[in-house]
Amino acid sequence: MGRNQQQTANRIIVALDVSTKKEAIALIDKLPQVSFWKVGLELFVSCGTEILQILQERQKRIFLDLKFHDIPNTVAGACNSALAYGVEFLTIHATAGKKALQAATEAVAKGNSRPKLLAITLLTSINSRELAFDLKIPLELPEYVLQMGVLARDSGIDGAVCSPQEVVQLRQVCGDDFVLVCPGVRPTWAQTGDQKRVMTPAKAIQAGADYLVIGRPITAAEDPALAWDKICQELADI
Ligand code: C5P
Repeated sequence: MGRNQQQTANRIIVALDVSTKKEAIALIDKLPQVSFWKVGLELFVSCGTEILQILQERQKRIFLDLKFHDIPNTVAGACNSALAYGVEFLTIHATAGKKALQAATEAVAKGNSRPKLLAITLLTSINSRELAFDLKIPLELPEYVLQMGVLARDSGIDGAVCSPQEVVQLRQVCGDDFVLVCPGVRPTWAQTGDQKRVMTPAKAIQAGADYLVIGRPITAAEDPALAWDKICQELADI
């Protein structure tokens, strides 16, 4: 792998979306070239911190995507507990509010290898109709996402998880240092599945994403290693 290809490969986070430790280990071992894995609620509830130890032992980078949403004291405690596992990215809902976001920021600042905190602005499963009628938010969806991004940044949060469609505006408003991590990425040859507003990996990076989260296009591919190579190649060619 060339240097350019290695650099772009470091920006791809693969979603470890399986439900058992056995499946997780099988996938990690099948894809030794993947250096950055995302552990979500399903796997974490099933395996607990053991999965973080397994990734740590294999010297993998860890994105712990548990989307914290609680009172400041509890959120700070959860962030503090995560420090023991060398987690690099942690997620927190912007709607937990300024005090919780600040408490989380203060908690991670105590660690030696400080994890980056990423805000969830609005779950991509929520559409504009639900935002207006169910959640009673009187803002257009893109405006709301931006407002949550600004709240997070002003509270000391390092970045946000966002749809590739939101990257350009969030980058403009939150600045170059704000880390933008995008799921909803699909190469042209992969199925979209339940992701509605997708973009190719190359377009998402060109739009300004710092990292991409990719799950099924790699993990559910007939040949996951080949799918990984194709995506790395596509990115190296930009
Ligand atoms: O398989 P796929 O590529 O769709 O996986 C995307 C990953 O990113 C999943 O783990 C999903 O839960 C996560 N995610 C998302 N949209 C968000 C936040 C996280 O798809 N807004």
